[in-house]
Amino acid sequence: MKVLVTGATGQLGSAIVHEFGAAHEVVAFASEDFDITSREVAERVRSVRPAVIVNCAAYNDVDGAEDHAVTALAVNGFAVLSLSRAAAEVDAAFVHYSTDFVFAGDARQPYTEDVAPRPGSFYAMSKLLGEWFAAEARRWYVLRVESLFGGLALGSQHRSSVDRIADAIFDGREATVFTDRTVSPTFVMDAARATRALLDRGAPAGLYHCVNSGSCTWHELAREVGRQAGVEPILRPCSVADMPLRAARPVYSPLSNAKLAAAGVGMPAWQDALARYLAARQGG
Ligand SMILES: NC(=O)c1ccc[n+]([C@@H]2O[C@H](COP(=O)([O-])OP(=O)(O)OC[C@H]3O[C@@H](n4cnc5c(N)ncnc54)[C@H](OP(=O)(O)O)[C@@H]3O)[C@@H](O)[C@H]2O)c1
Repeated sequence: MKVLVTGATGQLGSAIVHEFGAAHEVVAFASEDFDITSREVAERVRSVRPAVIVNCAAYNDVDGAEDHAVTALAVNGFAVLSLSRAAAEVDAAFVHYSTDFVFAGDARQPYTEDVAPRPGSFYAMSKLLGEWFAAEARRWYVLRVESLFGGLALGSQHRSSVDRIADAIFDGREATVFTDRTVSPTFVMDAARATRALLDRGAPAGLYHCVNSGSCTWHELAREVGRQAGVEPILRPCSVADMPLRAARPVYSPLSNAKLAAAGVGMPAWQDALARYLAARQGG
């Protein structure tokens, strides 16, 4: 099977290339080789004729999107429409990734796929638009991921919040961490495995929440990094309201991965994922 990957040097893109490369022919494009906002999207897809397109390209600067809404809409919205239409033209399956940020973050239990989105920032709106546009492909999967980590171990230069926290803890520096933002952290290798499993199983097309199981605040995650490393972390607790952030963040945004599990694709607990990533970071 030929798999075209965009945004291939990002965190998730690196994991997708690694995962699919083990069994499939992968045609991977970094942003400089294939700008998904360019006019040549359809032509490029036609020349590769993939069976699957996995779109890992995105504009992910949540605060920057408040000042650069047009760029966010171009990359996260309209480029997705070009890709999904190109996928339909060559009869390829289309995989696209979205985010927990499409939700308001005022729930009391993990969000399921049937909860109506209520985006609170330009970034979130641009990602929601991309979700809608992805459905132009004949066979499409939109996988909502959240608080991604793990690309560094696969050669990606893109660092995550988990890296920022782990770097500080391993260096004996103070890490500032939210005590009131609750998430379902997602290891890129587990998201990549789940993506491949959905395709391999021929799972029904549609929207899936694709996160590691369980949830935690960033403070709890930092404590778990310390516990696993055998280090007492120096943590400065803070709340979302304390930070001068341009864009609104959902405060409580864990996602339920029950639909993914019902499709036969179980996700490991985030603590297990974190342990595997920390071992990989240290070359273990
Ligand atoms: N990171 C998270 O915590 C998080 C949370 C929720 C959802 N997501 C979603 O998960 C997916 C993967 O995210 P990620 O963390 O792997 O992202 P990432 O590390 O920021 O990588 C994004 C990739 O997209 C590329 N890119 C940007 N604009 C492009 C364009 N116009 N054409 C082609 N490529 C372009 C970037 O290229 P450069 O290397 O040149 O910058 C980069 O390689 C995205 O859909 C993202 O919105 C991520």
